[in-house]
Amino acid sequence: MSIRGIDYEQDIKSIEYIWLKHCTSYKEQKWEDVDGEIKCPKNRTYIKIKNDSIVAFITIRIENVEDDDNLQNYIFELFAYPKRKGFGSELLKEMQDKRQFLILHVKKTSTDAIKCYKKNGFQINRESQDGSKHRMVWRNKNYN
Ligand SMILES: CC(C)(COP(=O)(O)OP(=O)(O)OC[C@H]1O[C@@H](n2cnc3c(N)ncnc32)[C@H](O)[C@@H]1OP(=O)(O)O)[C@@H](O)C(=O)NCCC(=O)NCCS
Repeated sequence: MSIRGIDYEQDIKSIEYIWLKHCTSYKEQKWEDVDGEIKCPKNRTYIKIKNDSIVAFITIRIENVEDDDNLQNYIFELFAYPKRKGFGSELLKEMQDKRQFLILHVKKTSTDAIKCYKKNGFQINRESQDGSKHRMVWRNKNYN
């Protein structure tokens, strides 16, 4: 099992497949938006591979962007399929190994995802402006 950066041409169909497995509960999200985040040069997408298949992906803003970029270390997407096999946690741990903090928003109704983030050390620190999402933060204790 391994984790590596995305090779867009080679991997994008498998990533879209994973997203499609969840998109019924993500009705307001369009694939074009996810694809745009993956293509954005300020972001990086990492994939988890098991038995030659992609089983999870994470899209995150790179750490060393401009000082005024308030999306530094922001997790845009995290999807795993199949679920509950530890793949999502493995990608989070890989990101935590390299960073001082991580930030994300998660829908309040995504209870499985919230459990996953809490299990990986994230804490709710406020809600989104429209009240529909939690903002969650993880801080690397080694940097305090
Ligand atoms: C959220 C998501 C990425 C988590 O990845 P995952 O590989 O399924 O999660 P893990 O196997 O690492 O599970 C970690 C913990 O999360 C919780 N969890 C995950 N799936 C769960 C489920 N279906 N039911 C209850 N708890 C669940 C558990 O506490 C689990 O730990 P445990 O198995 O030791 O009890 C994945 O479930 C997913 O793709 N969900 C749909 C998309 C989504 O909501 N993404 C987040 C957007 S912010």
